[in-house]
Amino acid sequence: MKENKIVLVGYMGSGKTTIGKMLSKHLNIKFLDLDTFIEFKEGLPISQIFKERGEVYFRKKEQQYLKELFSVENEFVLSVGGGTPCFGDNMEQILLATSNSIYIKASITELVNRLVHQKNGRPLIANLAVEELPDFIAKHLFERSFFYQKANLIIATDDKSPHDCVAEILGKLV
Ligand code: S3P
Repeated sequence: MKENKIVLVGYMGSGKTTIGKMLSKHLNIKFLDLDTFIEFKEGLPISQIFKERGEVYFRKKEQQYLKELFSVENEFVLSVGGGTPCFGDNMEQILLATSNSIYIKASITELVNRLVHQKNGRPLIANLAVEELPDFIAKHLFERSFFYQKANLIIATDDKSPHDCVAEILGKLV
């Protein structure tokens, strides 16, 4: 049943978790977070997995656990990591699993403003200087947008509250 599976994709700091949790409450279905599932399965925080085992290991596990979630869970709002749709066949798997894949879209300016305060604990940007963030995010988002844009629904979040975004999503679910 594709109807009861919703997957949120988008860059780090775009609001996938906040919007996903609110959406799951409205729909009365469970909220899942792929990073949390990876941390649970690996017994380590994401930042430690990157540090101790490297990004390639993380990407392999990310792909494995995404498939596992799709095979064992039937009804969910799932927030995946910012990189998830951009590696291996993950975006194809997402599109196969659901007709409700949603790109939570935020502008570069908005992402920079949010991520300046949330850098630590995010291994891909933790070591960047604040001045380096705008350029890094602009380039990274440009590369990743190709994958995010494949989602069935795109929700622009700038100047909207999470509540407004959820209301918009609810009106557009198929
Ligand atoms: C990543 C985003 C993170 C997490 C990991 C890698 C990425 O998830 O999966 O640090 O490649 O953009 P969030 O988007 O939930 O921060």
